[in-house]
Amino acid sequence: MEKKISVPSAPLNVLVIDDEKSIRDGCRQAAEGLGFKTHVAENAGNAYKSLESQSIDVVLLDMKLPGSTSGQEMLKDIRSRYPNVVVIVMTGYATVPAAVQAMRSGAYDYLSKPFNLEELRLTLERAASHFNLTTENRVLRTKLRSKEGFGNMIGRSPQMEKLYRFISKAANSQHPVLILGESGTGKELVARSIHFNGPQKDKPFIPVDCGSLVPTLIESELFGHIKGAFTGANQSKEGLLALADGGTVFLDEIGELPSDLQAKLLRAIQEKEIRPVGSTRRVPIDARILAATNRDLDVAVQNGSFRRDLYFRLNVLALRVPPLRERKQDIPVLAGHFLDRIERTGNIRRTLSDEALHRMLDYDWPGNVRELENCLERACAMNSGPVIHVIDLGTSLQSPRSASPQPGNGFGTLADLEKNAIFAALQHTHGDKLQAAELLGIGKTTLYRKLKEYGPQF
Ligand SMILES: Nc1ncnc2c1ncn2[C@@H]1O[C@H](COP(=O)(O)OP(=O)(O)OP(=O)(O)O)[C@@H](O)[C@H]1O
Ligand SMILES: [Mg+2]
Repeated sequence: MEKKISVPSAPLNVLVIDDEKSIRDGCRQAAEGLGFKTHVAENAGNAYKSLESQSIDVVLLDMKLPGSTSGQEMLKDIRSRYPNVVVIVMTGYATVPAAVQAMRSGAYDYLSKPFNLEELRLTLERAASHFNLTTENRVLRTKLRSKEGFGNMIGRSPQMEKLYRFISKAANSQHPVLILGESGTGKELVARSIHFNGPQKDKPFIPVDCGSLVPTLIESELFGHIKGAFTGANQSKEGLLALADGGTVFLDEIGELPSDLQAKLLRAIQEKEIRPVGSTRRVPIDARILAATNRDLDVAVQNGSFRRDLYFRLNVLALRVPPLRERKQDIPVLAGHFLDRIERTGNIRRTLSDEALHRMLDYDWPGNVRELENCLERACAMNSGPVIHVIDLGTSLQSPRSASPQPGNGFGTLADLEKNAIFAALQHTHGDKLQAAELLGIGKTTLYRKLKEYGPQF
């Protein structure tokens, strides 16, 4: 169930480096048959000329080169000077240890001579898809580090651009705004952006969580109370709506507001004054009201749990913050933003492995941006290394496309279990395949074969 990466329309450039003409010709024919643009070199000197003058993507490198530069040296050199080039080494039949060493030095794959056309074809195809995958991730990763968004809001998807335009307009009006959206999409951040981009930005922004306070407390918080208004009211207290004083009151989870307070809030908005609990005196207010909810207020109005008149009052301007799954292109830049922030708190600089990033792009994020933020915080807390792998991402992201499960029995196939065990062992040994094979109780050739079967990333 590997993610298929679309192959770009421009053909990839393959360089075949071998002193044997028959190998050069055979490889050239096979590569051209697959749609690659092919270059050949019979020695290291010519190979370097091609690498310098052509934009080579994949190299087929014979480990036994004539002249003073060995295949192993050339491999290391290519890896350090052209790190994006995918190298496949070709070794003699009896030189598996050389192949293993080449893989350790950064070769992507190896072919043992003599190989047949089918082997060559499969290997080249895998290398191409690996190249495309890493290129795609490189593009995503450059985006990852650039600060993109609007104020504190990150994301440049068309949906977010639309949201920013709305925020700019709303910031300059005085009407109430109703902010709708699933949990964790950034509703509070939107409310803050509306306030801090408007003319009242130097006045207070006061968030009130209507969902977490007990009703009597919300009332006294919003409207204030006088001394002795209820048990424990030892001093009079000004209501937040009055304290806002030209600023903004953000009523979070407005859908949870009890109905008597809904009536009182409506009156406060309409008449621009409030009456503190226990008082007969009315206090003028000058507060802009922003409200947010993840509930469907239309339904709440229909079933009578939310007042229609208040709904219309609050709903003068309404916006919906899109869920993350509808703007997946924002995932890399959001992830970069959170990783930067974690790094600033004294930890090491971290990046996502290609596969981890792809898994994150595949996932549906029911908890939206907050879930992404938590996921990365946890991954960084669990992992002391610089690269975050799939295994660090938490169980819901462990299996591909976990948010839209394939019909099945919930166990996964035996092959999946085996693959997971192999990845866990490699993770444990920090990529040391020989040690991993020992841990798993399988031969190292079996492990190499399996990894080859799993495809490009491994
Ligand atoms: N576009 C964004 N850019 C950067 N951070 C974001 C963005 N959207 C959300 N976040 C972050 O995600 C977390 C959740 O955002 P926020 O609290 O605004 O969501 P919410 O919609 O109010 O959620 P809830 O409905 O659960 O209250 C916060 O830490 C916030 O800073
Ligand atoms: Mg919130």
